[in-house]
Amino acid sequence: MNLLIDNIGELVTNTGIGEGGPLGIRRKAALLVEEGEVAWIGPARYAPAADRRIDADGAAVLPGFVDSHAHLVFAGDRAAEFAARMAGEPYTGGGIRTTVAATRAADDDRLRGTVGRLRAEAVRQGTTTIEIKSGYGLSVADEARSLRIAAEFTAETTFLGAHVVPPEYADRPDDYVGLVCGPMLRAALPYAKWIDVFCERGAFDADHARAILTVGQAAGLGVRVHANQLGPGPGVQLGVELGAASVDHCTHLSDVDVDVLAMSETVATLLPGAEFSTRSPYPHARRLLDAGVTVALATDCNPGSSYTSSMPFCIALAVREMGMTPAEAVWAATAGGARALRRADAGVLRPGVPADLSILDAPSYLHLAYRPGVPLISQVLHNGVPQCQP
Ligand code: NIG
Ligand code: FE
Repeated sequence: MNLLIDNIGELVTNTGIGEGGPLGIRRKAALLVEEGEVAWIGPARYAPAADRRIDADGAAVLPGFVDSHAHLVFAGDRAAEFAARMAGEPYTGGGIRTTVAATRAADDDRLRGTVGRLRAEAVRQGTTTIEIKSGYGLSVADEARSLRIAAEFTAETTFLGAHVVPPEYADRPDDYVGLVCGPMLRAALPYAKWIDVFCERGAFDADHARAILTVGQAAGLGVRVHANQLGPGPGVQLGVELGAASVDHCTHLSDVDVDVLAMSETVATLLPGAEFSTRSPYPHARRLLDAGVTVALATDCNPGSSYTSSMPFCIALAVREMGMTPAEAVWAATAGGARALRRADAGVLRPGVPADLSILDAPSYLHLAYRPGVPLISQVLHNGVPQCQP
């Protein structure tokens, strides 16, 4: 069974071939899906016959979003904390411990239900690849089960045992780092692809972060870092030094941070949902792009600092608040996210990659920023399989 998507008004390929620079836009196009992969892309007038056909009716089609940063394994919510912030309280990350307590108390099915619900929510908004972190368990057993459950939903799983020091280790952070580097890492390894550390004042300093990331890397995990979110700090440069695939947040950067990033293979992943939900200044995407840094956009979906699963919302924020053009933002939410996960087969539409794509209820990708808050994702294919119908 093959499937033809015909009559595409604007096809964003991210191949760089066609119009729109890196977006590689083709007009009046068609795309053939076979065995879950893109088999052919070409002018609609040369479209081959197929077993099934979707008429895109002149709409835009783009690669599925790659949400390279999400914390979906948790229980409870922190709506009251959000309300307090909107009444003037600052965000410190201290509420993470509230979610840790709720997560530890939840059974597996409860956690599984939340991950499934949030992932389905993301898919309805065009996300076809999602990274999922642990980080609300913070014991050997709870981190391992968080990752085991995350692995039921994605291949992009990240061990974030170093999210904060849990209350029972409050007086002995060195012991907690020892736990993370030893028994917790060993329990996480069967389920994790990446390791991450919240390198920030109040969480883990550079020495602790380096110790944890180095031992995780030696065990075969790829490195990513929560860096420079709440203030200036060592996270970005540490991440680059260790060859991190991505340093995430990047809200408070020095000129040296930007230069170091520009000379590296490390992606700067910006998470505007966090600045929106903590009422904080947004990262300077323009400064990074002008310096030649590869930028990705992701949701940071979590119950504390950014309870959104919507990549279109993040695109709209990046364009309106962070100085990105719609083209840069859409690239960052697709190909940029794929770079942040070192995935050559995601965030792009060309023969041979999985058929992960969205059909918009709009003639152009521009509408994702131009029509904020409007549900423009009309159909999503993941591995060639329709995920939601109009
Ligand atoms: O990426 N910054 C650290 N971790 C999350 C927030 C987690 C929380 O507040 O529960 C983040 O923003
Ligand atoms: Fe995060």
